[in-house]
Amino acid sequence: MKDGYKWVGFQYELSGNIYSLGRIPKCKSTMLKHLKPGQKLLVAGAGHGTEAIQAAQMGIDVTVVDLSATMLRHCRGRMDKCSDAAACMTCINDDIFNIQDTEKYDMVMANFFLNVFPEKRVDEVANHLASLVKPGGYFVVGEFVLPEKGLIGLLQNLNWYLAILFYSATTEATLHPVHDYAGLVRGSGCDIESIEYFSIMGLKLYWSILGKKK
Ligand SMILES: C[S@@+](CC[C@H](N)C(=O)[O-])C[C@H]1O[C@@H](n2cnc3c(N)ncnc32)[C@H](O)[C@@H]1O
Repeated sequence: MKDGYKWVGFQYELSGNIYSLGRIPKCKSTMLKHLKPGQKLLVAGAGHGTEAIQAAQMGIDVTVVDLSATMLRHCRGRMDKCSDAAACMTCINDDIFNIQDTEKYDMVMANFFLNVFPEKRVDEVANHLASLVKPGGYFVVGEFVLPEKGLIGLLQNLNWYLAILFYSATTEATLHPVHDYAGLVRGSGCDIESIEYFSIMGLKLYWSILGKKK
């Protein structure tokens, strides 16, 4: 199976944490508060699985899916260190499109996952993820914010392009402008219930979008 993160996967979690001064890990986990123990969570393109492990420690029944064996190895390594998490987690090394559990999950999370896909494919991915959510369940997207106008937008774009230039050169991620993630959540058949922003010195850089499936 394709492993786009074979050479850079090892540093992914640490560098994201440092680059965002801790905002990215917070962004990934913030919407877990909408789940209760025993509910089912799917984390798509989970990488090192920060939010997945946190969810499993809350007693949530977690499935993580990732195409990269390297990323999953790091996730499993962290999971094995937390015996309370390991019991609640299933790890699947596969393409998300091979997961066909329609309307099975109380929440599907896509943190910094949709940004890997090009403009012409990303709505198909978002729609597939939303199809896995139960009616009334949640589709959560954590991502780089859609840049505003003017100087603020320039800085938000700079934050995005610095990251994507590196990952499009080293992984299968494609170089593209920031997607309209709120539009993708709505377009997948979800109402937006809330949005949380993660800022550095007042500049909004990341957001977590909570979509509720109709
Ligand atoms: C940018 S990383 C984000 C990782 C993690 N969600 C995080 O925020 O740290 C994207 C992840 O999606 C995975 N991925 C890319 N395409 C995928 C696909 N079609 N199915 C499953 N996982 C995929 C990659 O292997 C990688 O681990």
